[in-house]
Order: sequence, then C-alpha cells, then structure tokens
Amino acid sequence: MVTPRAPSWALITGASSGLGRALARRCARDGWNLVLVARRQEALQELARQLEAVQVLTVPLDLRRNDAIDHLQERLAAAQIPLSRVGMLINNAGVGDHGPFTDLPADRLEAMLQVNVAAVTRLVYRFAREMTPGSTICTVASVAAFTPGPLMAVYYATKAYVLSLGEALHRELHPRGIRVVTVCPGPFRSEFHAAAGIREARGLPSEDRVARRVLAAIRRGRPVVPVGFGARVWAWVGPRLPRSWAVRIIHALQRRR
Ligand SMILES: NC(=O)c1ccc[n+]([C@@H]2O[C@H](COP(=O)([O-])OP(=O)(O)OC[C@H]3O[C@@H](n4cnc5c(N)ncnc54)[C@H](OP(=O)(O)O)[C@@H]3O)[C@@H](O)[C@H]2O)c1
Repeated sequence: MVTPRAPSWALITGASSGLGRALARRCARDGWNLVLVARRQEALQELARQLEAVQVLTVPLDLRRNDAIDHLQERLAAAQIPLSRVGMLINNAGVGDHGPFTDLPADRLEAMLQVNVAAVTRLVYRFAREMTPGSTICTVASVAAFTPGPLMAVYYATKAYVLSLGEALHRELHPRGIRVVTVCPGPFRSEFHAAAGIREARGLPSEDRVARRVLAAIRRGRPVVPVGFGARVWAWVGPRLPRSWAVRIIHALQRRR
C-alpha cells in the first residue's frame, strides 16, 4: 500500500484504460484523491463514478498538444489543487506502433514523440519544481527501454529516453526528498497491442497484476524496476549482450508479431 501523506492527490495520465485505470483503482483504495487524465472523458467519468470514497477530478486532455500541460495546470488551478498538493505523479499514458520505420504513419510518429517523450518531460518539469519532500514521480517505461527495437524503433527509443531521464532525476531530486521511479513492465493485457497494430500474445498478466507490482515498486523507491519475470531477465541480459546481438534478437521477435 502506498499511502498518501499531506499532499494527498495522485495524478495519473492514461487513466481511461489498461494500466492507468488499474492504478487509479488501487490508489483510490489506498486513500489517494485522484486527478485522472486521458482523452476519453466518458471513460474517465465512468471510472470516477466507481471510485466513490475519494475526490476525483477528471481532465479530458490530448497529450499530443504542445499546450497540454498548460491546460492541465489551469484545470488544477480552477479546482484549487496547487501542484504542491500532488504527492504522486504517475506518467502512464503511452502509445506504440509496430512496423517498418519508413511505413510509420506521420501522425503515429508524432503521437509517440508527444505523448511518450514531450508530455512526460514537461509534466515532470512542471511538477518536480513544486513537489514537497516525500512526493513521488513514477514513469511507466517498458522492457523496451533496455535495447533498440527494430520494427518498433521509435517506441523503443522513446522508452529508452524516459528511462534515462528517470534515472538521472532519481539522483538529482533525491536530496529534495522526491522519489523518482521508472517502471519497466514486460507485455501485459491492455488496449495497447491493438492500438499499436500487434497481436496480443496469450497468457499475458492482467493490468491489475502489473498495477500491484508498480505500486510495490514505488513503495520500495528503487530508481529502475523491471516488472515481471521476463522483464527482469531482459533488463539484466539485454544491456550485457553485444549491442548487435540484442538488436538482432529483438528484430527476430518483432518480425513474428
Ligand atoms: N501493455 C503492454 O504490454 C505494455 C508493456 C510495457 C509498457 N507499457 C506501457 O504502459 C503504459 C500504459 O499502457 P497500457 O498497456 O495500459 O495501454 P492502453 O490500455 O492503450 O492505455 C493507454 C492510455 O494512454 C492514454 N493516451 C493515449 N494517447 C493519449 C493522448 N494523446 N492523450 C492523452 N492520453 C492518451 C489512453 O487514453 P485515451 O485513449 O482515452 O486518450 C489510455 O488511457 C504505456 O506507457 C505503455 O507504453 C505497456
């Protein structure tokens, strides 16, 4: 259980489905008030109706917009939630795309850069300046962060970026008492695969199981946490292989998807 201290709001991006929604349910059970962000307002409101015991602010927002974080800050100000009262920021929203780089539709490329990289960086920048000691910033990267990924080249690169950012900020923000945790799950069940044009493998863990592990990782406060057995193995093996081998292995795996 990750219990809130005085700044009792948790902000979760990508809360309309998958891991974000599961994290929201678990955070509500732990007593956090919630700011839920995603584009699908109806899904956010439906979730808010289910989370009766806590205060919930839903913010329909397209994180591809350059002014998305300004807009979010305005909504928080209107709801009288200063950034300093957000004790946990979970950067969970993310998009992927599968296929040859040169076939990637331009809008999918932009979405990955904006949602996975720019929005995460801007959110962390805005919140880290205001957060109080004891606060947490968690970013959901992926097992994809540990090596390059042919046929999902941009997605892998965006996750490598947030892993690098998170590890650096873990060190920088430690003296201020702000925990920065980057979680790197292996594949799990969610809408992600269909949206990225990938066949979902059978037997994947549920998003709720992953959410439980993510919150346990936050509690422990280590800088980088691979989530799931496969992710733990690849987090150790992948970076230790000659880079060219790792790239070939991922290429072969991605060709079969
Ligand atoms: N599923 C996996 O196998 C897997 C493995 C490793 C890492 N991850 C990572 O886990 C995180 C959660 O993914 P998931 O698997 O739970 O996928 P998901 O069910 O597709 O959820 C993605 C969330 O991101 C939000 N989102 C997407 N584009 C957005 C935009 N432009 N503006 C605002 N919100 C946006 C979606 O909400 P709206 O559509 O309502 O905007 C949705 O709530 C992602 O960062 C993903 O990269 C997933």
